[in-house]
Amino acid sequence: MKSQIVPVACLAALLALLTGCGAAPATSVDEAPNTGSTTSDLFPPSGTVVDSELFPPEAEVGEAGPTPTGAEPAAIQTAPVYPYNDKATSHFPLVNLQPHGSSAGSAFDISKYWGNLSPWYSVHSADYGLPDASPLAPEGCDITQMHLLYRHGARYPTSGQGPSSFATKLANATKNGLSVSGDLAFLGNWTYKLGAELLTPFGRSQNFLLGAAYRQLGSIGTSAASKFAVGAFNSTIARLQSQASGIEFNVTDIVNMLQLCAYETNALGYSAFCDLFSEEDFLNFEYLYDLSFYYNNGPGSPVSAAQGKGYLDKYIARFTGKYPAPQSALNETFDNTSTYFPLDQSIYADATHEVVVLDALMAFNLTALFDGPPLSVAGNRWQNSFVASKVVPFATHFTTQVLSCPAYSPSKQIRFILNDAVIPIDKSYPGCPADPSGLCSFEKVVSVLQKRSSENDFDYDCFANYTAEADVDYNGRAPR
Ligand SMILES: *[C@@H]1O[C@H](CO)[C@@H](O)[C@H](O)[C@H]1NC(C)=O
Ligand SMILES: *[C@@H]1O[C@H](CO)[C@@H](O)[C@H](O)[C@H]1NC(C)=O
Ligand SMILES: *[C@@H]1O[C@H](CO)[C@@H](O)[C@H](O)[C@H]1NC(C)=O
Ligand SMILES: *[C@@H]1O[C@H](CO)[C@@H](O)[C@H](O)[C@H]1NC(C)=O
Ligand SMILES: *[C@@H]1O[C@H](CO)[C@@H](O)[C@H](O)[C@H]1NC(C)=O
Ligand SMILES: *[C@@H]1O[C@H](CO)[C@@H](O)[C@H](O)[C@H]1NC(C)=O
Ligand SMILES: *[C@@H]1O[C@H](CO)[C@@H](O)[C@H](O)[C@H]1NC(C)=O
Ligand SMILES: *[C@@H]1O[C@H](CO)[C@@H](O)[C@H](O)[C@H]1NC(C)=O
Repeated sequence: MKSQIVPVACLAALLALLTGCGAAPATSVDEAPNTGSTTSDLFPPSGTVVDSELFPPEAEVGEAGPTPTGAEPAAIQTAPVYPYNDKATSHFPLVNLQPHGSSAGSAFDISKYWGNLSPWYSVHSADYGLPDASPLAPEGCDITQMHLLYRHGARYPTSGQGPSSFATKLANATKNGLSVSGDLAFLGNWTYKLGAELLTPFGRSQNFLLGAAYRQLGSIGTSAASKFAVGAFNSTIARLQSQASGIEFNVTDIVNMLQLCAYETNALGYSAFCDLFSEEDFLNFEYLYDLSFYYNNGPGSPVSAAQGKGYLDKYIARFTGKYPAPQSALNETFDNTSTYFPLDQSIYADATHEVVVLDALMAFNLTALFDGPPLSVAGNRWQNSFVASKVVPFATHFTTQVLSCPAYSPSKQIRFILNDAVIPIDKSYPGCPADPSGLCSFEKVVSVLQKRSSENDFDYDCFANYTAEADVDYNGRAPR
């Protein structure tokens, strides 16, 4: 039950000499029995008396699901730096560290390289080819209707995922005489403070169906990402290994620690893990997510457009005034009644998970988001416009504006906006002109969407027997 924090690397490992560890302070702690232990808070705290009128019991509201809430953020007391809100990379109240080895004054924003764990940030329309567009209503146009599809804000990791298994590995290692030093010295006192998932019921039925489709097809994205990861972090593994003994780091641990950087920052305000990784590590981390989402829920997936068809059909229904047909993952009990599915509203908002947002973008045929050759498993060639953190971050939001623009003909126009970037549709919506504000005729767009939906055979794409592989842009539909 002993764990030591000593600069072992300086004493023993040859590698340490190469990484200049001689400068590390000689920290030595004899007992750290809590290293890697789980210290999540529970909700409600034990001893709480619940007002059953305000919070009805499970029998009435249904199963609560897992409720570990994580430790209270206390960065003001525990973080070594204060999150001043005055720099290009500030995200008050989150501390945004600079990558390992970066020069003072670097403007690299690590939080933009966390894939779906990034907090959302404004994406420039220029990234997708509309340098002059803005989310503000174009001059002379009035917004008459809005549709919003958004993802929940930051959440805890799903139970049993990488971050908690890293904690388990660390806790286990203390039994074998774990020693850490230098950059890793903080691990000796580190405990796991995140809660678990806090699943919201919304969209569970959908996820069930998505899960069924995944099982049929295996997961192209996950294996593409793993292939890329082998080797991508070799030098970082070597650097960190030189500062620890009693534990053997591999690529999974590196990815788990990068995830801890993201989750801890989002949940606790500060993470010592962020300091461990170089700019290149963060670029590789983002690319792991780019690959994973491109091939699991983007154009590289043969089922993504089918999985997004439910939202597309609901969306079309709101324009045509007819309830959606049962040809997707929609629950007809919900979508065939004005109680749950009112038509003729001026504002619609749907909440969901990031995978469903991406599936929906595929169903909408918004190919400007994925412009370029399929992502290469061998490494980022920077030839495709797709970046996961721009499309599926926490609180991502896909907006439709329906506008009245008297200067246009016809005057009823429509356009799509993702995280503040206006998406051009002239190349994927036949008949839509190249418009600097991303506008196109409402009628034209509705008919393209109806065509896209009718071409989308949910049963075939989700359940037929075909093979699909990485390195192909399927535009989200099964090969025939
Ligand atoms: C815990 O450590 C022991 C001894 O090194 C090892 O055999 C075992 O696989 C480890 N378990 C986990 C879950 O890492
Ligand atoms: C770990 O925590 C102990 C007790 O809280 C403290 O004395 C020690 O300095 C800490 N060690 C490090 C490396 O922070
Ligand atoms: C990285 O390390 C792994 C495992 O040791 C090895 O198989 C791989 O060839 C290395 N890759 C590179 C690019 O160095
Ligand atoms: C890394 O090590 C952990 C156990 O310590 C293991 O579960 C995991 O599969 C390993 N990852 C790789 C890529 O070998
Ligand atoms: C559809 O919604 C209804 C009403 O909430 C519910 O009773 C039913 O279980 C749902 N069906 C599926 C397949 O989820
Ligand atoms: C909606 O449900 C009602 C009652 O079950 C049924 O008669 C009707 O055909 C359904 N409409 C659609 C569009 O599915
Ligand atoms: C979808 O976009 C592609 C171009 O990316 C286009 O060839 C195709 O016709 C579009 N589909 C529909 C239904 O408009
Ligand atoms: C799917 O197709 C392959 C190749 O044609 C065949 O070998 C396999 O048995 C089929 N699987 C099912 C479940 O029909």
